[in-house]
Amino acid sequence: VFDHIDGGAECEVTLTQNREGFDDISLLPRALMHVTQPDLATSVCGIRLGLPFICAPTGLVGAAHPDGELAASIAAPEIGAKALVSTHATYSLEELALGAPEMPWFQLYPPADRDFCTALLERALVTKVPLLAVTVDVPVPGNRERDVAHRYSIPPKVTPKNAWSVMSHPTWALRLVRNPRIFPKNFVGGSDRVRYREVIPLLRKSMGAMSPRVDWDDLDWLRSQWPGPLLVKGILRSEDARRAVDAGVDGIVVSNHGGRQLDGVPASIRVLPSIVESVGSDVDVLLDSGVRRGTDIVKALCLGAKACLVGRPWVYGLAAGGTEGVRAVLGVLRDELVRTMVLLGCSSVKELSPEYLWTSSK
Ligand SMILES: Cc1cc2nc3c(=O)[nH]c(=O)nc-3n(C[C@H](O)[C@H](O)[C@H](O)COP(=O)(O)O)c2cc1C
Repeated sequence: VFDHIDGGAECEVTLTQNREGFDDISLLPRALMHVTQPDLATSVCGIRLGLPFICAPTGLVGAAHPDGELAASIAAPEIGAKALVSTHATYSLEELALGAPEMPWFQLYPPADRDFCTALLERALVTKVPLLAVTVDVPVPGNRERDVAHRYSIPPKVTPKNAWSVMSHPTWALRLVRNPRIFPKNFVGGSDRVRYREVIPLLRKSMGAMSPRVDWDDLDWLRSQWPGPLLVKGILRSEDARRAVDAGVDGIVVSNHGGRQLDGVPASIRVLPSIVESVGSDVDVLLDSGVRRGTDIVKALCLGAKACLVGRPWVYGLAAGGTEGVRAVLGVLRDELVRTMVLLGCSSVKELSPEYLWTSSK
């Protein structure tokens, strides 16, 4: 489970470069600026955020801890951030509507099966999902070789090695047995319990949500079906960003899926400036992949992002301590943001610009 979350595709070149991309950027602070309580609020597609970050959609993380996606949906709004929940969540939309203080944002894939997608959109409307994100960088799942090595597959394969691994983590295994949050609940609908004989067909059906047959017409169709704000997640080319804007989306998430899809693509932070330039002020641009610290979020905002999505960090917090662990991670990010803004001498995230970045000419 750890390697499934932590790992990337193939040689993990992009996974590594996502960090290098941030490390290569230097901040340039202003001195004596009297900043005590920086304003961290921003907006995405007209929705106010008290903090410029969002828990990224991560499928099936109930395997890390049964609090799963509900943990992010509780912890994020508590401190003014947002949660964006995966179609492959282990909590259904209806369960999140019941358990979370505010309905999280929802991620889905381009509609390979329009009937299923229509039903999902109806459920999203009924549960009052405020924003939808469509992920376009998974025509097929990436080749994650740590998963291959561990036989971490759908359906899962039991080997002596992974059986031993389960037995040697008794607390985790006991939690899993008591509350097996390991199924993509949106594929059964509602709050029904999953019966064991349904599991394998259910997992197969969920894999069918991702298809290489989808194209720009499917994005147009989705736009025509969803009346609320729509983000496109997984864009790395400027012309794709423009095309998505022409299709009527409200925002772009520059993302390489945390290095989990096509290995060898550039770090998201490296392509961000060209995408911001190509879409101008027409839509909001967000970024994910490699964000680990408050300084990373500040760097992305300096380069034109409105907010960042944070993937693995909240899932590590979840694995370590359930909802409390997610609260701790998000609190660290908030504290780092405050300190970074004070050290930078900038009183509002809305004022961040390339002015606060060092280049050799400065
Ligand atoms: C375990 C895991 C599962 C993920 N599942 C999804 C998913 O279901 N849908 C999606 O759009 N992105 C998914 N992602 C990608 C994240 O939304 C995000 O793009 C990525 O994690 C950002 O990189 P970071 O982990 O370096 O912050 C997943 C990422 C991880 C680590």
